[in-house]
Amino acid sequence: MSESKLYRVKPEIAASAYIKQPDYQALYRRSVEQPEQFWAEQAEQFLDWSQPWQTVWEYDYPKGHIRWFEGGKLNVSVNCLDRHLAQRGDQVAIIWEGDNPEHDKKITYKALHQQVCQFANVLKVQGVQKGDRVCIYLPMVAEAATVMLACTRIGAVHSVVFGGFSAEALKDRILDADCKVVVCADEGKRGGKTIPIKANVDEAINNCPCVEKVIVIKNSGNPVSWDENRNVWYHEAMAAAPDNCPAEQMDAEDPLFILYTSGSTGKPKGILHTTGGYLLYAAMTHKYVFDYHDGDIYWCTADIGWVTGHSYMIYGPLCNGATTLMFEGVPTYPDAGRFWQVVDKHQVNIFYTAPTAIRALMAQGNDFVTRSNRSSLRILGSVGEPINPEAWEWYYHVVGEGRCPIMDTWWQTETGGILITPLPGVTALKPGSATLPFFGIQPDIMDGNGNLMSGEATGILVIGKPWPGQARTIYGDHQRFVDTYFKAYPGYYFAGDGARRDQDGYYWITGRVDDVINVSGHRLGTAEVESALVLHELVAEAAVVGYPHDIKGQGIYAYVTLNAGVPPTEALRQELLQLVRKEIGAIATPDVIQWATGLPKTRSGKIMRRILRKVAADELDNLGDTSTLADPSVVEEIIKNHAKQ
Ligand code: PRX
Repeated sequence: MSESKLYRVKPEIAASAYIKQPDYQALYRRSVEQPEQFWAEQAEQFLDWSQPWQTVWEYDYPKGHIRWFEGGKLNVSVNCLDRHLAQRGDQVAIIWEGDNPEHDKKITYKALHQQVCQFANVLKVQGVQKGDRVCIYLPMVAEAATVMLACTRIGAVHSVVFGGFSAEALKDRILDADCKVVVCADEGKRGGKTIPIKANVDEAINNCPCVEKVIVIKNSGNPVSWDENRNVWYHEAMAAAPDNCPAEQMDAEDPLFILYTSGSTGKPKGILHTTGGYLLYAAMTHKYVFDYHDGDIYWCTADIGWVTGHSYMIYGPLCNGATTLMFEGVPTYPDAGRFWQVVDKHQVNIFYTAPTAIRALMAQGNDFVTRSNRSSLRILGSVGEPINPEAWEWYYHVVGEGRCPIMDTWWQTETGGILITPLPGVTALKPGSATLPFFGIQPDIMDGNGNLMSGEATGILVIGKPWPGQARTIYGDHQRFVDTYFKAYPGYYFAGDGARRDQDGYYWITGRVDDVINVSGHRLGTAEVESALVLHELVAEAAVVGYPHDIKGQGIYAYVTLNAGVPPTEALRQELLQLVRKEIGAIATPDVIQWATGLPKTRSGKIMRRILRKVAADELDNLGDTSTLADPSVVEEIIKNHAKQ
């Protein structure tokens, strides 16, 4: 590993940074030694409260009980909008850049506030009350921010479902959260392609009795099927809605949103975040990790369907009164220079994206980058998966021209915000390392037996002590929350990732240690893909593993056993790919389907995934112990067929 490479903090970056090297240690120490005082100060500094809290924090990990600022009252939309109006009402809150490079718009804080109040009234007219769940299934239209914030204004809990998920996946999520209203668009546009959003909703809600109304944003303008009783046009409802809507005063621990993510077993889990702690943590990390200053143009390329879109495109930036850019399209449309054209067009200062995008653009050559100017860029960010040093160096030298530090931010849907990260004015960078913990975060490494390891170590990443942005439960299944995160390593939060800590205390995330794979920064449970495959009547069994993929980080490798006597054909392979797309979405489509007459199992019938992972990764001389297999000949056949892939 290129550990010898160290990129020291640049004086010009440090000069204007909020947090500088000499102050960092003391501040970090205070954050972990006097957490109560530290977080109380931050909560006062970052948020407007209408009533002070009674207790700063309270937790009992074995019960999965985590509370921050209980008794305190606030409203997220007030913190993201109303309180900015006097000072920055005419400042742009959101720059929206369309899929089509000729389309863009700028929305001021004043305008956004007005639209949010109007849509909050629309939701009320449609019967949505505090605590009700609203599903948001939208492409990256500017109205997405309005809809999310309008939910927070009246205390409705939003559940954003990524627009790339299929009707079937949408249905599961609507049912799990028992959503009363769905907000969608007629169609989406991405990379010049059309996405049938409303049609997917229609298909999904055929089986969702909980849904009373579907509010539809006119985006493409193409005709869509219409049910007079259930469907409402967004623009018509907005035209009739008053723009005055008092904000609901929420308890800090009232639910804010549910966001589904994949685990190693079972169906996706609805991660629940609450109001005060989440907003504080999103805002504080946004300000310090990206060193956001007034007037900066900030761009996070994530989709609102993922937690990065929630915390670092909407809530963190708007809470800080920032100008945040929202991009409807993809990095390679109309060509692979799009990101950098947008950077120049809007004079972006801070740019936050995923390693998979960096790798895809790197593969297209430097010309697409160098034909742009990019002199506005000051800070770069990376999130979602480990960034390989080669991609890091390209991002740093070619995109940033050696001028912009890269914040490699490690975190998860469950953590609400960034936990391990450099800070621009503080941390010397090592390509591929997420470096050091943010304030208040206490990472540790454990061995497989649950013993803490000190000094340089490689093992399981755990986090001691809660932080305000931490998830509070899995919606409707608190026991699963306890079992997943707090059982294996008592007293700690188990993140599901492995990590190495080097001699300087820097953390290097090595990837998931469970059956979750990370495909282009999208988190998928192998069990979900397997469940989709075995729905086919000709499939007897399926085992899915991740394997190294140059662009996606990990690809999806599926071993499929057909029923006895069924011939494996190309047509069947295509049917299976379609089935996965239909059940989950295009992001879950296997890259490889390998036919197998049998899967390697222990005598007790457990599939030995370790072997399947090694074969998929081409590590054939390193299969480990196969003596416990019920039928070792299965492995030989699997290796033989792998060679044909
Ligand atoms: O494996 C880690 C990886 O992404 C997982 C979390 O996925 P998700 O909940 O979808 O959230 C993604 C956006 C925060 C983690 O368990 N991951 C995320 N960031 C990094 C990372 N792996 C290495 N380095 C990172 N910077």
